[in-house]
Amino acid sequence: MSKHRQSLLMAEAHQHMPQGVAENYRYWGDDRTVFVASAKGCRLTDCDGKEYVDFRLGYGPIILGYRDERVDAAVIEQITQRGTLSGFATELDTEVVRLIKSMCPNIEKMRFANSGTEAVMGAVRTARGYTGRDRVVTVEGGFHGLYDEMMWKSDIEHWDPQGSVPPSVIPFGAGIPQRARELLDLIVLNDHAMLEHLFATQGETLACVVLEPIIGNAGSISATQQWLQRLRDLCTQYGTMLIIDEVKTGFRVAKGGAQALYGIHADLTTYAKAIGNGYPVAAFGGRAEVMDVVGSHAGGVVHGGTYTANLVALSAAHATLKILSDTDALQTADKVGAQIRELLGRVFTAAGIEYAFAGPAAMLGIHFTPDVPTNYRDWRITNSELYRAFAWKLIDYGVMLEPDSREPWFLCEAHQSVDLGWLEDVATRAMREACDESVSRP
Ligand SMILES: Cc1ncc(COP(=O)(O)O)c(C=O)c1O
Repeated sequence: MSKHRQSLLMAEAHQHMPQGVAENYRYWGDDRTVFVASAKGCRLTDCDGKEYVDFRLGYGPIILGYRDERVDAAVIEQITQRGTLSGFATELDTEVVRLIKSMCPNIEKMRFANSGTEAVMGAVRTARGYTGRDRVVTVEGGFHGLYDEMMWKSDIEHWDPQGSVPPSVIPFGAGIPQRARELLDLIVLNDHAMLEHLFATQGETLACVVLEPIIGNAGSISATQQWLQRLRDLCTQYGTMLIIDEVKTGFRVAKGGAQALYGIHADLTTYAKAIGNGYPVAAFGGRAEVMDVVGSHAGGVVHGGTYTANLVALSAAHATLKILSDTDALQTADKVGAQIRELLGRVFTAAGIEYAFAGPAAMLGIHFTPDVPTNYRDWRITNSELYRAFAWKLIDYGVMLEPDSREPWFLCEAHQSVDLGWLEDVATRAMREACDESVSRP
C-alpha cells in the first residue's frame, strides 16, 4: 500500500518538531513513523488508509477499546453540563475514589494526577514525607516515568552477559544530572541475596522501594511470590514504604491489579493508563496513615496541580471503572489474550522457535528463549532480534505492536472481535519470513 501521505506528513512535521514527532517514543524512522487517522475498538487506521489490529494500545491505557461509546458519552455529558474544571472540589472526586476502593482493598485514601509520571512523583514524595528518609530503590528493567530521578537504567545493551561485571547504570539520555542519581539504588528482580544485602546495609535510610511486580516495561517478567513477599516483609521490618507501580497493571491484569494476583499489598500504589481507557487521568494512594501526611498543614507533603481531577479525566475514570467493576470486560480481555497466547504458541512451535510467555494474558510478554526470564538481565539473552523481525513483518500484515520484546502485547475488551484464524495465518507467515531473513543474514 502506498505511503504517500505518511511521507508528506513526516516531511512537514520535521519542520516543526524535533524528529518530527510530539514525543520521542513515536519516532520509528522516517519511513516507519505511524500517523494515525482514526481509531475504533481494537483497530487503528493510518493516514494512508491502512488498517491495523492494535496490540500496542497506546502503551496500554485502552482497556475497553478506542472510542468506547459508554465512556465517551459520560465525558461529553460531564463537560457539556458542568464544564471541564473549576479548581474546586466536586462530588465526582469522592465517587471515583470510592470505586477504586471497591476494587483495590489496599487503598484507603487517594489523590489524583494527570499522568503516570506525576502519580509516581506524588507517591515517592509522600513516602519521603512519611518516613523522613530520602533514598529510593527501583528494580532493573522497570520504568516509572519521565522525571530525572527515575530516568536511570541498567545499560543492558552494552553489557556482557558472559562476564562477571554487572551492567553499568546510565541516564536514559542527556539533560539528566548525575546528582539526580545520588539517592537512587537499583536492584535485580528475584535476586534474594541482593535484596537481603540492600536492607542489611541501608534499610534504615530507605524511604521506599518502587517496583512493578510484573514489569510492563520488560516484557512482563514477573517477581516470584517468595521474592515479593520477602520484599514486603523487609519493607515492614525497616519502615520502608513499598510502592507498587500499577500504572500498566492496574485495572488490567485484575480488578485489583498485580496486588490482587499476588495477594501482597503495597503501602502506596500508583495508577494511570487503564483507569481512564485513554483519557489522561492518574492517581496515587494507599494506607490512610501514610496518605494523611499529604496536605497543607505544617509539615505536610505538597501535592497539587491546575489540571488535577479535572472533569474530563474524572468522568472518564468514573465511567471506565464502573464498567470494569460491573461487567466481565477484564475477563473478556484475558480470555482473548489466552487464545492468542495459544495460537502464537502453535505458530512458534511449528517454526521450531524456542519461546516463553511471561505475565498475564492481558499484558502478554513474548520472549524467544527456552526459559521464562526471571529478571531484566535474562531478557538480554533472549533472541530479541528475531522478535523484532517478526514484529515488523506483523506490522506489515496489519498487526500493530511495539517492535521491541520489552513491550508486552496489550489486550482490550474489543479484541473479542478479532478473527483469530486470520491472526494465526499472518503470524505464521510473519514468523516464516522473519526466520528466513535471519538465516540469510551473514
Ligand atoms: C509502570 C509505569 N510507571 C509510570 C509510567 C509513566 O506514565 P506516563 O507515561 O503516563 O507519565 C509508565 C509509562 O509507561 C509506566 O509504564
